[in-house]
Amino acid sequence: MSIFARVFHPKKTESQSLKEGLAAGSYKIPKHLAIIMDGNGRWAKKRHLPRVAGHKEGMETVKRVTKLANEAGIEVLTVYAFSTENWSRPSDEVSFLMKLPVTFFDTFVPELIEQNVRVETIGDIDKLPETTKQAVIDAKEKTAKNTGLILNFALNYGGQQEIVDAARQLAREVAAGDRLVEQIDQESIAERLTTGFLGEKANPDLIVRTSGEERLSNFLPYQAAYSELYFTDVFWPDFGEGDFEAALAAYTKRDRRFGNVKA
Ligand code: FPP
Repeated sequence: MSIFARVFHPKKTESQSLKEGLAAGSYKIPKHLAIIMDGNGRWAKKRHLPRVAGHKEGMETVKRVTKLANEAGIEVLTVYAFSTENWSRPSDEVSFLMKLPVTFFDTFVPELIEQNVRVETIGDIDKLPETTKQAVIDAKEKTAKNTGLILNFALNYGGQQEIVDAARQLAREVAAGDRLVEQIDQESIAERLTTGFLGEKANPDLIVRTSGEERLSNFLPYQAAYSELYFTDVFWPDFGEGDFEAALAAYTKRDRRFGNVKA
C-alpha cells in the first residue's frame, strides 16, 4: 500500500477488521484448520531468552487462536504440538514441552468449557510421561460433552508412522480373512488413521505454517492431499488476530478445484 493510500484510507484496527469481516460473512471459513506452530525458538533467540520461553509464549498463542477459531465458526483446529521427531531435541527442552500440556490444561480447561470447546488428540499419547498423559486424558474427559470447536492436539504425532500403522492393521485384517485386498481403499485407510474419529472433517481445508518455513514436516501427509497451504513469516508466539485474519482472507481467495475444472 502506498503512503498516499495509507493516509487517506487508514487501516482499521485488526480486531475491528476480523470481527467486521466475520459479521459481514466476508470469509470462506475452513471447517478444519491445521497449524504448524513454528518459530518459537527463533522468537526467544531474538529476545536473548532460552528457547523454552518461546514455547511458553507459544502456548499463550494457542489460547488466543483457539478463541479466534471458535468465534470464526471453524469446526476443527489441529495444532502440531509435538512430533515423533521432537524427542531428539535437548532433554531439558523435551521435558519442558512435556510439561506444557499440563500447564495449559490446568489453566485453560475452565475457559475451554466456557467456550464449549472439546479437546482431542492425534498421535501416540501412551508414550508420553504419565503426568502429561493424565493431564491430556483429564482434559478430554472434562470437555467430552462440548459441541463447539474441536481443539485437536497432535502430540507425539508422526504422519508417515500413522500410515504405516493403518497399513499394518489392514494387512492383519486381510491375513485373518476379515478383508479382501480389493476392500483396501481410501476410506478404509482414512478410517484407520488417528484422524479417523473426525470422519468427513479429517482432512484440513487449510494448513498454516508460521516462521517462514515452507514444508509439512510429517504433519498430516495423507490428509493434506488437497489442503490449501498458507505460509507466513511471523513467528508463532507473535501470531495474532491480524495474522489469523490474513490467513482467512487468503483462504477466501483460493479456488479449490480438487483436481476438477472450473464450472
Ligand atoms: C516449533 O518451534 C514448535 C514446537 C516444536 C513446539 C510447539 C509447541 C507449542 C507452540 C506450545 C503449545 C503446546 C501446548 C500443549 C499448548 P521451534 O522450537 O522448532 O522453533 P525454531 O524453528 O525457531 O527453533
